[in-house]
Formats: sequence, C-alpha cells, structure tokens
Amino acid sequence: MPSVTRSDPNIIITGTPGVGKSTHCEALASKTGLHHLNINDVVKKHSIGEASNDGNDPNTKIVDEDRLLDVIENDLEDGGQIIDWHACDLFPPRQIDLVAVIRCDNQILYDRLKARGYGEKKLQENLDCEIMEVLVQEARDAYEGEMVVELRSEKAEDVDGNVERIEEWIRSWKRDNGKEGGVEAKGEGGKKDEDDPMFLHG
Ligand SMILES: Nc1ncnc2c1ncn2[C@@H]1O[C@H](COP(=O)(O)OP(=O)(O)OP(=O)(O)O)[C@@H](O)[C@H]1O
Ligand SMILES: [Mg+2]
Repeated sequence: MPSVTRSDPNIIITGTPGVGKSTHCEALASKTGLHHLNINDVVKKHSIGEASNDGNDPNTKIVDEDRLLDVIENDLEDGGQIIDWHACDLFPPRQIDLVAVIRCDNQILYDRLKARGYGEKKLQENLDCEIMEVLVQEARDAYEGEMVVELRSEKAEDVDGNVERIEEWIRSWKRDNGKEGGVEAKGEGGKKDEDDPMFLHG
C-alpha cells in the first residue's frame, strides 16, 4: 500500500439523489469529528454551477469540475474529508481512501423523492439511476475494487449500523497507515479480518 501523508482518510459518500448521503455524512461527521464536505454547498459558495439548458429542470446545475477540484484541493490534501456528492469519478483516486455507495429500495426512494415534490420526469430519471446502478458502476470504474462498498439506507437503524462500520474501517485505516495517535503503528505483520475494507461487504 502506498504511504499517505494525510492523517485521516478521505471518504466519498455517493449515490442517487435521495438515498441518504447527507444523512450518513452528518452522522459520520458528528461521530468522528471528520469534516462533512458537502459539494452542493461548495458549488453554491464558489458559484461554480451553471444553469443547465433543461427547461423541465431549470434548477439543475452543470458543475465546472476543474474549478471544483481547485477549490477543494487543499481540503483533500489535508485529509479527513467526508465528501457528499451524487458523482464520484472526478475525485483523484490517490486522494481517496474509501467510496461508500448508499443504496435504497426503489419504492422507498420513490416515496422520498415524491415527498420532495419532484415532478414525474425527474422522479423517473432518479429511479432509473438507482435501478441501473449508475453510481455503483461509476465508482467501480473509477476506483480499486476493494475501496468501493455498497451500504443500504432504508430504515433509521441502517444509518447507525453503516456509520459504525465506517468508523471501524477508519480505525483500521489508521492502524494500517501508522496514524494512530501520531505514533507509527507497531506492525506485527499479521492482518486481522476486520482490517480488510472488504469486511464492510459482510
Ligand atoms: N436510512 C434511512 N431511514 C429513513 N429515512 C432516511 C434514511 N436515509 C435517508 N432518509 C431520509 O431520506 C431523505 C433523503 O435523505 P438525504 O437528504 O440524506 O439524501 P441525499 O442522498 O443526501 O439526497 P441529495 O442527493 O438530494 O442531497 C431525508 O428525508 C432523510 O431523512
Ligand atoms: Mg444531500
């Protein structure tokens, strides 16, 4: 594994709109003290979204990805960012340690998006995105297989369980990268099962 300078990992929480990304990021940030980097807020703050030509959805913004990466470059360099965004493949793999794709049952997602007042077209587009596993595929195409995990967010308990699993993964990452308490970890050579990011799949 390449050595990293950041003392905390950068974690992407991605998925179809409405699956529960921000809910997870807020809970994870409050449990770990890591920073919730909400890309929607960054785009607004730095005015790097341009109105799309989609007359049905004038609020949709086309984001200037190069400018976005410039704006967050130092944050990613520092580490400890929980990135909240419905796309993931723009972030450089060398700066990312874990990609969690939040998943949700179609009917539950339909109800959530309907409750937001989404029109039929936008609703169907987002449901198709979830059904076609667009974000899972994007994550798997852009990052090493073992960095990508899928987590369900349908019931309130799911959020607690997922956050606990990511916290455990963060502890493993710190052990593996010698970032525990600022002291180089004492490697004994043997890796425990729970040190493996794949354990998140189980
Ligand atoms: N596991 C869950 N159980 C119950 N409700 C949930 C769960 N996860 C998310 N929700 C609810 O679903 C709605 C959407 O969640 P959230 O805003 O976190 O989604 P999001 O992925 O950040 O959406 P967007 O892409 O639009 O920012 C919220 O009302 C939230 O309370
Ligand atoms: Mg959100």
